[in-house]
Amino acid sequence: MTILYPTNQDLDPARLRQAFGTFPTGVVAVAAEVDGELVGLAASSFTSVSLDPPLVSINLARTSRTWPDLRRAERLGLTVLADHHGPLCRQLAGPVEGRFTDVDVTVTERGAVLVDDGLARLETTIHREVKAGDHVLVLLELHAVDQSDGSALVFHRSGFGRVSALLPS
Ligand SMILES: Cc1cc2nc3c(=O)[nH]c(=O)nc-3n(C[C@H](O)[C@H](O)[C@H](O)COP(=O)(O)O)c2cc1C
Repeated sequence: MTILYPTNQDLDPARLRQAFGTFPTGVVAVAAEVDGELVGLAASSFTSVSLDPPLVSINLARTSRTWPDLRRAERLGLTVLADHHGPLCRQLAGPVEGRFTDVDVTVTERGAVLVDDGLARLETTIHREVKAGDHVLVLLELHAVDQSDGSALVFHRSGFGRVSALLPS
């Protein structure tokens, strides 16, 4: 007989969000030019996945109104945000009309949109989409990468911080 681990905890979304928020992450801007417009959003679910082939992933809510447009782009740009990008991150998660107002970006030949002063810029295509509950797990294949010096924006417990010191190894 299989014994499932019983729980009397109510795993409601607020409780889950709090628990997930204890895990610090960076944040990426995911953006592209679609039908002549810049479209994009902020995502803290970015993870590196594989070196060969080079893959990364993001995890997006199935309620996203931007993903159906973004996924039509020939290439998607991912930019790892730097520690001064807290306001930009909120802007990229806010009202759609203002997401790129006063943001310096480069649009690549194939329509990936990259934030100029980000820490790393990745040009990608969709490798696979996997339904995962109320989200879709998107595996992205890398085609071009560059990175610069600087400190990353850190998202932790719904707030922004920076990496202040690395522990001695
Ligand atoms: C710090 C931060 C991290 C976020 N990470 C994600 C994420 O990983 N996945 C996601 O679907 N939305 C994430 N969002 C929300 C999106 O940026 C965006 O607000 C949401 O997709 C709603 O907009 P849309 O309907 O245009 O997609 C994040 C927002 C913030 C502020």
